[in-house]
Amino acid sequence: MMELQIIKVKTLLLGLIGLLFMGCYNDVEEELYPTVNCNTAGMSYSTDVVTILTNNSCISCHNNTNPQGSIKLDTYSDVKIYVDNGRLFGSVNHDVGFKSMPQGSTTKINQCSIDQLQAWIKDGALNN
Ligand code: HEC
Repeated sequence: MMELQIIKVKTLLLGLIGLLFMGCYNDVEEELYPTVNCNTAGMSYSTDVVTILTNNSCISCHNNTNPQGSIKLDTYSDVKIYVDNGRLFGSVNHDVGFKSMPQGSTTKINQCSIDQLQAWIKDGALNN
C-alpha cells in the first residue's frame, strides 16, 4: 500500500517535471520560430516600413537633425539609398560586414519585422 503511494507520488513528480520541460521547450520554440503568424504579403513603405523603423528607434537616431553615422532614414529617398546598397537589411539582420542595428542593442529587432522588411525589399522597395 505504502509502496503504491510512493509510486503514485513519483509518477506525479515525473509528470510535473515533464510539464516544466515542455514549458521551457515551448518558450524556446517561440523564440526560434516567431514568424509563424507573420504577414509579409503586400508590404508598404508608408504603413509597414515606416512603422518598423519608428518602433525600433531607427528614425530617432537617423533623421535630418540627428543623422548618426551620417545616415538618415526619415524619408523614402534616404531609406532607398540604404536598401540599394544592402546596408539596411545587412545591419538589421546582423550580417557579417555590417554594423548591427539598432546601435547599442545586443538583440535583433523581431524576426517578423525583419521578414517584412525583406519582403518589401524583394517586392522592389516601392514608395507605396
Ligand atoms: C542609438 C542610436 C541608433 C539607433 C537606435 C539605430 N542606429 Fe543605425 N547607426 C547608428 C550609428 C552611430 C551608426 C554608425 C555606426 C558606426 O559607424 O560605427 C549607425 C549605422 C547604421 C547603418 C550603416 C551600417 C553599416 O554597416 O554601414 C545603417 C544601415 C543603420 N544604422 C540603420 C539603422 C536601422 C535600420 C536602425 C533600426 C533598426 C538603426 N540604425 C538604429 C545609430 C543608431
